[in-house]
Amino acid sequence: MLTLVTGTTGQVGRRFVPRLLAQSRPGEQVRVLVRDTARGEPFAELGAEVVVGDLRDTDVLGKAVAGADAVVNVAAAFRGVPDEEAWAVNRDAAVELGRAAVASGVRRFVQVSTGLVYGEGRGRLLTEEDESRPGGAMWGAYPASKAEAERELFALDGLDVRVGRLPFVYGEGDPHLAQSLMWAKNWASAQRLHMGHHADVAQGLLRILHAPGISGRVYNIADDAPVTAVELHQLNGVEIPGELYERVDPDPWLMMMSTERIRRELGYRPVYPSVYAAREAGAL
Ligand SMILES: NC(=O)c1ccc[n+]([C@@H]2O[C@H](COP(=O)([O-])OP(=O)(O)OC[C@H]3O[C@@H](n4cnc5c(N)ncnc54)[C@H](OP(=O)(O)O)[C@@H]3O)[C@@H](O)[C@H]2O)c1
Repeated sequence: MLTLVTGTTGQVGRRFVPRLLAQSRPGEQVRVLVRDTARGEPFAELGAEVVVGDLRDTDVLGKAVAGADAVVNVAAAFRGVPDEEAWAVNRDAAVELGRAAVASGVRRFVQVSTGLVYGEGRGRLLTEEDESRPGGAMWGAYPASKAEAERELFALDGLDVRVGRLPFVYGEGDPHLAQSLMWAKNWASAQRLHMGHHADVAQGLLRILHAPGISGRVYNIADDAPVTAVELHQLNGVEIPGELYERVDPDPWLMMMSTERIRRELGYRPVYPSVYAAREAGAL
């Protein structure tokens, strides 16, 4: 079995690939798509095959999927990119990658998505059956393009597509936890962020990749203990701005995801059920 992984130079992908390689059985191989030859070297050293190119280049897609049995599409453009790039990478290139996968006989396609696709909250934990409802404080080209990518990939004939929707991912030196204050400093004190540690995101994605008979299924991946804006300041050792206590949370259920399905169907149990467990384990 040969698995192509995209987006491996990013925060999620660079921590996912070593775990995928570590649990590979004899004969199982991993190929990564990177945009820069030098940035592929660490993956080659780990034993992965490296293809160099941009996801928006259809010739590259053909090379990337040739001979592959499975694809894990981790790549996305959302950190400070113009909207056009977000659409081009997150929707158009993802769907083209899906088409290339069908043409090349790939059996399984895991699309890495985001809990932001749910849009506005529902007054309860979000489940995979909930339709995307555009709106809310975090809506924009990124969640909209990811939501459309999911829809268009599921509509492709002849491809076993599975989707993992991630929370706010942190851990193992990722600066994301500190960056959370960019948003949390403008929140109400009790406004919450649903997070997931890299170890658990990788665990969830590996379960989604390997499970038989789940074509067309979506799974939320997250931990058990969303943290408040106050806690995010405390975790980062930053003084809590007084304004937090003057604001009201407009939607306490925004991005709060249920993990019932992935627990029940795929046996997922977070190694780090909370950010506090990760901190105690020295895994921040
Ligand atoms: N991190 C989170 O909290 C979070 C939360 C929810 C969902 N997700 C999802 O998780 C996935 C990974 O996120 P991340 O945090 O790891 O993002 P990231 O750190 O920004 O990494 C993005 C990856 O995509 C690659 N990429 C972007 N445009 C590309 C293109 N045109 N061609 C080829 N590769 C391209 C980047 O390559 P370069 O290094 O060459 O730029 C990089 O490897 C995404 O699908 C995202 O939607 C993440």
